[in-house]
Amino acid sequence: MTEGKIWLNGSLVDYDNAKIHVLTHALHYATGVFEGIRCYKAVNGSAIFRLGDHMQRLLDSGRIYFMDLGYTREQLEKAAVDTVKANGIEECYIRPIAYYGYGKMGVNPMPNKVSVAIAAWKWDEYLKGGDGADKGARLMVSSWTRIDLRSLPMGAKATANYANSALARVEAIKAGFDEAVMLNSAGMVVEASAENIFMVKDGALATPPTTSGALAGVTRDSIMAIAKEYGISCEIRDISRDELYTAGEVFLTGTAAEVKPVGEIDNRTIGDGKAGKTTKQLRSLFEAAVHGKDKKFSKAWLTSIN
Ligand SMILES: Cc1ncc(COP(=O)(O)O)c(C=O)c1O
Repeated sequence: MTEGKIWLNGSLVDYDNAKIHVLTHALHYATGVFEGIRCYKAVNGSAIFRLGDHMQRLLDSGRIYFMDLGYTREQLEKAAVDTVKANGIEECYIRPIAYYGYGKMGVNPMPNKVSVAIAAWKWDEYLKGGDGADKGARLMVSSWTRIDLRSLPMGAKATANYANSALARVEAIKAGFDEAVMLNSAGMVVEASAENIFMVKDGALATPPTTSGALAGVTRDSIMAIAKEYGISCEIRDISRDELYTAGEVFLTGTAAEVKPVGEIDNRTIGDGKAGKTTKQLRSLFEAAVHGKDKKFSKAWLTSIN
């Protein structure tokens, strides 16, 4: 995307004019919080998926970092809708970000003003796992430990968390893999560099708790709600590295990646290396929910842009 409109501090500005100063605090000290949201072409027109939950997480991330965004959740929701409309795109990825600006350099961000921006662009398949949706992604366990909860509040979706993610992702790509699995300092599975992780073992789903350091993903929550509705049991519990190797199925979830089957971890094939039965079932139920085809979820989860 190199054109269109970006919402910046209350106004829609041209893509090329949505600029920041080089002395922006967040650029130097990673004092920003952000979101990733998707808008889908649903049965009754374009609709943003779980917009309120994403904006609430943005506000909560800000609160953790003493950052007053200066907008209510409702104002942020409207701003996201206005951004999508202004760009005239039916399906897109939406990126709200709040960050400390410039004026006073130094580690303390507080003297600087907070800015808020929202951009939207077409972003199709984010995590490529080879040809075809059923081909599983190839993962490696990262040599980088996921940030400890005693070091950063991992409940906040903060830009500061992503240097760790980027190191892990680049390491995986350079080693010929698609994505990294991150372990915490206790050696337990946390998540991938930018997705939550689930495994299926003996017919039951499991995903690590947020106390492991995993983000409370909106897609993770959606999958758990869908599983509950359709009678698939799901446990939130610690998962060890070797349990992943012997799982029947593993998949990743995230707004950008959606539901992505995992075919290999550290060169060990998971199941038959392709999307398993439960992964396929959950992926298609998730697809139905985001496109407004599942009445049980559409009212609570979809915000029409019209
Ligand atoms: C580190 C990390 N974990 C998990 C997720 C998945 O979260 P969500 O489903 O809310 O996009 C993301 C993406 O936002 C992420 O960056």
